[in-house]
Amino acid sequence: MAYAKTGRSLPVPNVQALAQTLNGSSGEQVPERFVRTEEVCAEEVVSGCALPIVDLGRLLDPRSSEEELANLGFACQEWGFFQLINHGMPEEVIQDAKRDIAEFFTLPLEAKKAYAQLPESGLQGYGQAFVVSETQKLDWCDRFFLILRPTESRDMRFWPAQPPSFRSSVDRYSAEATKVVWCLLRFMATEMGLEEPERLLEVFEGLPQNMRATYYPPCVEAGKVIGLSPHSDACGMTLLLHVNDVQGLQIKKDGKWVAVEPMNGALVVNIGDVLEILSNGRYISVEHRATVHQSRERISTALFQQVSPDTMLRPLPELVKGSNKARYRSVIHEDFMKHYFSTKLDGRRSHLDHYKI
Ligand code: OGA
Ligand code: NI
Repeated sequence: MAYAKTGRSLPVPNVQALAQTLNGSSGEQVPERFVRTEEVCAEEVVSGCALPIVDLGRLLDPRSSEEELANLGFACQEWGFFQLINHGMPEEVIQDAKRDIAEFFTLPLEAKKAYAQLPESGLQGYGQAFVVSETQKLDWCDRFFLILRPTESRDMRFWPAQPPSFRSSVDRYSAEATKVVWCLLRFMATEMGLEEPERLLEVFEGLPQNMRATYYPPCVEAGKVIGLSPHSDACGMTLLLHVNDVQGLQIKKDGKWVAVEPMNGALVVNIGDVLEILSNGRYISVEHRATVHQSRERISTALFQQVSPDTMLRPLPELVKGSNKARYRSVIHEDFMKHYFSTKLDGRRSHLDHYKI
């Protein structure tokens, strides 16, 4: 996809290697570029507050579908995030993807660098994203980004040959996740009350999909750094897999950060900016961030469900009839993504609100 190639990020230190030197020596400080202001570090965090749970099995069962649809609507309108259970993805597919992604990050730095981002290929590969100036604060993580779909867009130079099953595991995971996404989009179209659900589904035709696996090394001064800066996702929806069970994801709810606990067997689903726009604000794309742990690494993998680059992104015409005015300006998706990748992550206002009317 063109936009993944237009995104650029300035080179920065490898955080995993940096963390190893800090953790191994006494007295070494976290470099200033990673240290956040006291205000950021002091923001209130609420724990023990569970996300809504959506049960795909109940959505698919005609006896419980209507009730569960209301549940889905509540989650998408009030939280923009939910835990998806009974998603039907084979356990083995999930375990294989987790194992191989985790194993990739254990390879020696030089082996991982064989898949490093290349100047002409934008964000694909091992490295960073959203670093646009020498002075901005940096996230305490390393990222690995791949275009998964359409399959002909895959650039196999970036697909690790180590571990040997990585490619097939990620391919199978993507195929299963795509089924889940398609199914959720259908139910969302119904929940939005669309007379023609196809109008929503056709925006996602071809189901372009990217993956970002993120490695958050432990940090001796975990409270001073941020794993992933606050942002909203620029895609349609995101499926987030906790590759290990270390907590770190936080979402903004009623002005406070809410810590999301990994839930065994569930996928975390969130609404992205594109679905917020398509739904004319009925569904919300919520600001979130990731923190790091003092002594344990954290690994997560996000699958971003995209729309094709030449899509004219705007609220669905069926939802802006009569007194319901469009709340977002129209924009070609490719331009929308260029704007997203050209700025540092700075909460959701910096991007989505740019298109608000
Ligand atoms: C992302 C993201 C959260 C996490 O990659 O966009 O929000 O917990 N990840 O790693
Ligand atoms: Ni995100």
